[in-house]
Amino acid sequence: MINIAVFDTKSYDKDSFESFAPDNIKFKFFESKLTADNASLIKGFDGVCVFVNDKIDNVIIDALVANGVKAIFLRCAGFNNVDVSYCFGKIHCFRVPAYSPYAVAEFAFALLLTLNRRIHKAFIRTRDYNFSLEGLTGSDLHGKTIGVVGTGKIGQVFINIAKGFGMNVLAYDPYPNQNLDVKYASLEEIYKESDYISLHCPLTERNKFMINKDSIKLMKKGVNIINTSRGALINAEDLLEGIKSRQIGSAGLDVYQEETDIFFSDKSNHILDDDILSRLLGMPNVIITSHQAFLTKEALSNIAETTIENINSFFNGIELSANEVCYHCGREQNCRKSRNKKCF
Ligand code: NAI
Repeated sequence: MINIAVFDTKSYDKDSFESFAPDNIKFKFFESKLTADNASLIKGFDGVCVFVNDKIDNVIIDALVANGVKAIFLRCAGFNNVDVSYCFGKIHCFRVPAYSPYAVAEFAFALLLTLNRRIHKAFIRTRDYNFSLEGLTGSDLHGKTIGVVGTGKIGQVFINIAKGFGMNVLAYDPYPNQNLDVKYASLEEIYKESDYISLHCPLTERNKFMINKDSIKLMKKGVNIINTSRGALINAEDLLEGIKSRQIGSAGLDVYQEETDIFFSDKSNHILDDDILSRLLGMPNVIITSHQAFLTKEALSNIAETTIENINSFFNGIELSANEVCYHCGREQNCRKSRNKKCF
């Protein structure tokens, strides 16, 4: 029997993992995140399954290794919360690279459409029997320019949706996809020419706070920004200033730089300490959702199925998992995975 401790579990995670669990894997669900304080919980488990806000740093990695845990199974695509270089040679780390790009791309577009046509304001008004249209004027998307940053799986679906609306798409990616029917441009061109900008790239050390006061200055007045990728791609304080100065016309944020201790839980009876988030939440042209873009039935099923495949392929050695996350992968000449061998 393979024993896996699942952290930061919500009811929907438990339901999907239990419905796909094979006889050879036993999941134990913990509601708490995996932290240095509760690392003793991992004793006796073969692997841990964690989510986007479990910060897997050197302290946790040492604790996992000391307790005999062999692998970390991320039930998400992004892995910026794991110190993968510290993992190397100590513990294997797997992710679910694609569970539903449609879930995230469609949600990003839903944020864009809602803000663009003030649906969030109209919803509240008509529930209060206020049928006035004052202040609800939107813009046609047809013919407008949208800048898409990151043309991977989610970015590509998003581009297709934008094209369906008759938008001009400009794209930026450090590794342009030559098979994609899209016009690539520099980031600067994207900032200068876009009416809408949507972020679909991973968070790295290099692009942290790529949306900041300098890049905001380059943007068109009234630009609309959508972020469903990672919060720290945007400097929230600079975003707030951009909104206050009317340089930014609207912002749809499914992620926030300081979301770790706030998102995914009910804080309605708490006083929010984060003044920037409070101020953003009070803005009529800002929609903040709590990292919800992935949450569709199809995505949850795919996450559970792929995580179980990752667990089985690692522990039963059925085949080399392409889903292993390794900071050497593909970059080094001696990359073992490219030679169909385990990363270490
Ligand atoms: P992907 O790996 O298929 O594509 C990412 C693309 O970004 C690649 O083409 C890559 O070359 C490009 N890229 C790398 N660095 C870049 C940079 N500095 N600037 C612009 N592009 C860059 O990833 P996928 O599946 O499309 O996911 C994108 C991101 O979406 C993930 O990294 C994750 O942060 C976020 N995400 C958010 C979810 C949510 O629920 N809000 C759910 C799933 C993913």
